[in-house]
Amino acid sequence: MSEQREPVGVIGVGWVGLVTAACFAELGHPVVARDILAEKVAALSRGEVTIHEPGLEEMLRRNAERIAFTTDMSELLAGARLLFVCVDTPPTYSGDADLSRVRAVVEELPEGSDHVLIMKSTVPAGTGEAIRRDLPGLSYVSCPEFLKEGTAVEDFMHPDRVVIGADPGDEDAAAAVADLYEPLGEILHTDVSSAEMIKLASNAFLATKISFINEIANVCEEVGADVGEVARGMGLDERIGSSFLRAGIGYGGSCFPKDVTALKMLAGNTGYHFQLLTAVIEVNELQKRRVVGKLRAHLGSLLGKRIALLGLAFKPDTDDMREASSLVLAARLQGEGAEVVAFDPVASERAGELLEGVELTGSAMAALDGADAVVLVTEWREFAELDWADAANRMERALVVDGRNFLDPAALAAAGFEYEGIGRSASDRRISASSVARVQSTPRSLRP
Ligand code: UDX
Repeated sequence: MSEQREPVGVIGVGWVGLVTAACFAELGHPVVARDILAEKVAALSRGEVTIHEPGLEEMLRRNAERIAFTTDMSELLAGARLLFVCVDTPPTYSGDADLSRVRAVVEELPEGSDHVLIMKSTVPAGTGEAIRRDLPGLSYVSCPEFLKEGTAVEDFMHPDRVVIGADPGDEDAAAAVADLYEPLGEILHTDVSSAEMIKLASNAFLATKISFINEIANVCEEVGADVGEVARGMGLDERIGSSFLRAGIGYGGSCFPKDVTALKMLAGNTGYHFQLLTAVIEVNELQKRRVVGKLRAHLGSLLGKRIALLGLAFKPDTDDMREASSLVLAARLQGEGAEVVAFDPVASERAGELLEGVELTGSAMAALDGADAVVLVTEWREFAELDWADAANRMERALVVDGRNFLDPAALAAAGFEYEGIGRSASDRRISASSVARVQSTPRSLRP
């Protein structure tokens, strides 16, 4: 008989909570997952997965017998000692993180409880210390999550690093959490405040990389350089690295916008003005709006023009619409008097609740019918495989603004499109650059 693994409790079954529950079950742990939304708990108990995340549904199905979903806190407390807090911490009007859901969880813990509270929710540095002050007997561990939507299951099972923060007195609790993660990879042990800062600083740094390359892209447009080549050349420097240097129409999602603001506010609350992050946020806001200028440069006034958006989710392989660039872009286009029509392979239902006055279609081609221009907003794979020649015939004007530099400009030009990317040079320059690379990689004796 296999040995019984430590039971795991999960509080809040949103993206992070559900992935955490599924993956610990996959590792052989019994899991009790609690959420206050009875409807969500009922759906999950019936085996209906409430979010779109590759691999998650299969994993939950495979491990259905190990996971109990409940609304009942006492069932959770009876079922597990180690409790992962995965509730959301959205920004408040002041830009600080809203910790009310975290506080509600803490208030539900009985006094003298021997449970270990493991904070996965992103919270400002100092939160752990405050919770420990309120509940002196409680064991508290910070274990920030670094999951990316769309690859969350893979990220959980193969993490770059696991950070476990604990303060003196909680060494045993930290060791118990480390045991859970031991099969997965390298663990970094720190104090609680540093663990909290690692999470915020990591997201703020990645967002900074994106805003940086977006500004470089904007300069590339002025000087005729190609941001893809620039990013490739920069990324070859190990100190810089190649990831998160994809220029586009700005970052979105449930983490970057919120965490960058939260870190800026956290610093501000201590009296420190984090100037760099102010610029990162502003660049990101302006980047979403630059598409409008590109459309105007080709179409003149957008009044009455029919603009198709391909992709609405904040990135591919998710139906998450939180802080999606499409929301700002659609509203801006409507503000210019344009008629906006859109398609997303999975996010249409969620998007429909948020995008007033936007016509949602059942296919990409239907969105392009009669459009004066198309903007690629989210780089879903199926958009690269679209029959673009057919699309050009269906559109009023074959103009594409590729907001993610995802499409092949030469193929689009061959299909009859006027093509605009973000910081991409004219196609003739790029073709000559790649033919130089080809010649250089050909042995000298074979060169013409
Ligand atoms: C992010 C972090 O990567 C993850 O570690 C953290 O736990 C949660 O926040 P996520 O929001 O799921 O994950 O998506 P990510 O893949 O990081 O992309 C965020 C946004 O940045 C997307 O809108 C994406 O389109 C954009 N992005 C990303 C770029 O514009 N350029 C890039 O080079 C990379």
